[in-house]
Amino acid sequence: MKKVFVSVLACAFLMVLSQNACYYDNEVEQYGVVSCDTVGISFSQDVLPIINANCISCHVQGGVQSSSPLTNYDQIKGFSNEIENRVNGIGGIMPPSGPMSECNQSKIEAWVRAGAPNN
Ligand code: HEC
Repeated sequence: MKKVFVSVLACAFLMVLSQNACYYDNEVEQYGVVSCDTVGISFSQDVLPIINANCISCHVQGGVQSSSPLTNYDQIKGFSNEIENRVNGIGGIMPPSGPMSECNQSKIEAWVRAGAPNN
């Protein structure tokens, strides 16, 4: 009985693993993220310039969305999970004019998933 349980668990685990692999393959095919380098994403070199170019016009004191300013590391880290969702359109796409490039989305995602480091 115990053996059956263990193999059911192992099977479920393998299914999860292979699904992830499929998801990744699909993403590469769909979005062409192959040419987008998301290894070792840096807050100051990658994330901040993206936010400055695409978000800060509204997310700043005096802007239309001054209640969630995104002007420095602490503010951006504070909203990081929400930012990851929003750039992917979950809860409403940001910027409101339409999604950023797939590469910019992937970079934001990679940074948030790395724990939103101040690097
Ligand atoms: C044209 C103005 C504008 C731009 C540009 C813009 N936003 Fe927004 N953002 C808003 C407005 C207005 C809201 C509030 C309405 C809503 O939640 O959809 C908002 C809400 C948000 C929220 C939720 C804030 C909260 O208090 O929960 C996040 C996170 C966010 N935006 C991130 C971003 C990011 C990241 C970018 C750039 C990729 C961006 N926004 C670009 C106007 C903008």
